[in-house]
Order: sequence, then C-alpha cells, then structure tokens
Amino acid sequence: MTRYVFKDASEAAMAVSERIVTLLGQRPHAVLGLATGATMEPVYAALVTAHRMGRVSFSRAASFNLDEYVGLPAQHPASYRSTMNRLLFDHIDIDPARTHVPNGLDSDPHRAAAAYEALIATSGPIDLQLLGIGRNGHIGFNEPGSSLNSRTRLVELHAETLQANRAFFADGAVPRQAITMGIAGILSARSIVVLATGTAKQAAIARSLAGHFDADCPASALSEHGDVSWYLDDNAASATRAA
Ligand code: GLP
Repeated sequence: MTRYVFKDASEAAMAVSERIVTLLGQRPHAVLGLATGATMEPVYAALVTAHRMGRVSFSRAASFNLDEYVGLPAQHPASYRSTMNRLLFDHIDIDPARTHVPNGLDSDPHRAAAAYEALIATSGPIDLQLLGIGRNGHIGFNEPGSSLNSRTRLVELHAETLQANRAFFADGAVPRQAITMGIAGILSARSIVVLATGTAKQAAIARSLAGHFDADCPASALSEHGDVSWYLDDNAASATRAA
C-alpha cells in the first residue's frame, strides 16, 4: 500500500489524472475502472484538459464504471451514465461503445448485474480501478456488511448514503437501489487508486488503513490487494498522519 498526501483536493485529483495519463501512454488499450462522486469531478476535468492538449488519447481504451442507480432513465442528470458522459466521455476520444455502466433500467436487475460481471470477465482484467470512498467506508455501492466475495449485484443503499447523495438530485429523490461491482470484482483489478479528500472521509480512511478487513468498513478490503495507492489531501489524511 502506498499513501500520497497532497496539500489540497485539487492537487490530489491532478496527481490521479496524471497517473491515468501515464498509464494510457504506456498501455493505450488499458481497461479503466471508473468511479463517480463529487471527488472525481476534478480528475475528469483534468483528463479532459490533458486530452485537449494532445497529452492523452483514449481511442483504444475501454472503461467500466463501478455502479449505477436502479430505475433512473439513462438521461437523468444524476444517473451515473449521464454523469460520466457529461464529465468525461463526451469530451474525449473514447469509443462510446467501449464505455460500460451497469444497466439500471433492465426489468431484471439481477440479470443486468450478471451480464455486467460477465462482460468484465471477458474484457478485463481492469488495469486501473479508480475508487472514491463513502463516509461510511463504502466502495462503489458496497455498503457496510458487504462480503469480500461479493460480485456485481443489486444492493439496497444505506440511509447515510441516500443522505450524502441527495445533493446530486434536484428533487432530493435518491433511488434506494443500485447495481454495483462487488468487492471481489474490485480486488480483481491489477492496480487500485483511491482518491479521498475532505474531513468527512477521515474516519473511513483511518478504518480502511488499519490493515485488516472489517466488514463494517468495506474499503478496508483493499488491505487484501497488493497494489493499492491512496491519494489523499491534508484534510482527509489528518486522522491517519501518525499511521
Ligand atoms: C458514491 C459512489 C461511490 C463514491 C462515493 C463518494 O455513493 N457510489 O463510488 O466513491 O459515493 O462520493 P463523493 O465523492 O461524492 O463523496
């Protein structure tokens, strides 16, 4: 495990963006595991800038997003599909057909989850999995209690997650279910990059870095992986400074 601490959220996001630029320079056909959430927005903005400057091409890359709400039309501004299109895919040269987000509109979400898992298995492994972290330690939408063996599946969101994500919904109506890659799927990536900024993430980060899996904090599962880099800002890192 490597931990990098930056003076602020913008520098941490820039460093993550540069990590992706470097990967695509070395491995143009990389499979990227992507994440949503406010923390990732400056990463995608920096990648769009790098692309416009001619520093990076996504033309041979593929992507898999971690999760999607169930029941939101793809065009809904808060769906993870429309969020990714708006923040990243619409502004870079990635082939839209190679950008994957779970289908939260399938009449059978269990089938959609299994299909997503199968697609990752045939296109993967994911070279670099980008992860944020929820205040309760969730990764993707793997809420506390998720198993180390979990795969892509339908999940119920916890009350604190509904509350935290309300800001993304003009009417405050956050869907209660999602399809998420599982913890085992996340751990199947070759490398994992976690970006966490702000004081609200301190406690979850401290538990995640304790060095053992604690089902109450899903991100602690990352201690089972051999190539995880944590990119933190000062505010997020302060509870773990002595670690
Ligand atoms: C969301 C997403 C996660 C994300 C996390 C943190 O619910 N499903 O993938 O990492 O919560 O989001 P934010 O960056 O907005 O704090």
